[in-house]
Amino acid sequence: MSNILDIETVALDEEKKALVIIDQTRLPYETKLLYLTELKEIWDAIYLLKVRGAPAIGVAAAIGIYAYAEHSLKDRVEDFSDAFKKACDYLNSARPTAVNLSWALGRMLGMVEDNKGLPVEELLQRLHDEALLIKEEDIAMCRRIGEYGLSFIREDCGVLTHCNAGQLATSKYGTATAPMYLAHERGMSIRVYCDETRPLLQGARLTSYELSSAGLDVTLLCDNMAGAVMKEGLIDAVFVGCDRVAANGDTANKIGTSSVAVLAAYYKIPFYVCAPSSTIDADTPTGDGIRIEQRPESEVTEMWYKKRMAPENIKVYNPAFDVTDHSLITAIITERGIYYPPYDFRHFR
Ligand code: MRU
Repeated sequence: MSNILDIETVALDEEKKALVIIDQTRLPYETKLLYLTELKEIWDAIYLLKVRGAPAIGVAAAIGIYAYAEHSLKDRVEDFSDAFKKACDYLNSARPTAVNLSWALGRMLGMVEDNKGLPVEELLQRLHDEALLIKEEDIAMCRRIGEYGLSFIREDCGVLTHCNAGQLATSKYGTATAPMYLAHERGMSIRVYCDETRPLLQGARLTSYELSSAGLDVTLLCDNMAGAVMKEGLIDAVFVGCDRVAANGDTANKIGTSSVAVLAAYYKIPFYVCAPSSTIDADTPTGDGIRIEQRPESEVTEMWYKKRMAPENIKVYNPAFDVTDHSLITAIITERGIYYPPYDFRHFR
């Protein structure tokens, strides 16, 4: 089998004009590619986390909406732009927290609205090019984040990460993992600790899988072990990704991130958020304005278990994300450079 990192997380099949994703719900045991062109199946793929991670969701939505338009809107000469907008609104409803989804769809819709007079054939070509540009930009942003983040990595250091902000969450390299991949590429030896990330196990199933496939030294932890390894002195820095950064630096990321940030502050360990500009939301002043996705109870009570592991009818709270207060963040690493407190992204476009 080829290495998981040799397979593109999100791609366009030019011949089939289809969105291609790795079905991440099947990893690490099975690498299955899905070819999608229908709006409902693209919405489902995003909602069910077959493709996930803020940047990957944005790129998948851009390529997906183009593929859908090619297959289903070609003959809509009169009302192409209305039908396209409706489709964008629908896809945008799949997940609320990662701003990359509305950001990428906004760019695709802007392309249609700015070129209303063009024949549909030409409009489709522009949508094709815009979707691939969004993907190329994502790769470049992750690479730059890796370069900036590398400045915080020392030989023999231990780094902890939460959820999956790796290649599987982006078009390439990942955000939080990009400095780790670069350190490894340059021959540095580092130890990576991955939180397993309940309830959907992105750390266990995805991060530990992709980093170990690349040959990094990875140790998997249950989420409630982070404090213990910090206390033992095994962690020199925490790197996490994000789903939306508010203008004041408050950061939404996978549930559990803010607990890690509190622990890191207690043990005086630097806590870095890796954020491509596509994840920075200048229009949301603080974390209070970030909508947190609530997910089904079954993800907590029975998913991954052979049989249900909670009493029937027990109340379950399952927010998919939390907001880390800006005061707990040592620095925010973007592709434009490293930002330190006080954060002010109000004019960040
Ligand atoms: O629910 P998920 O798996 O989409 O959540 C993903 C995360 O929280 C990632 O840390 C975040 O999207 C950053 S990915 C570079």
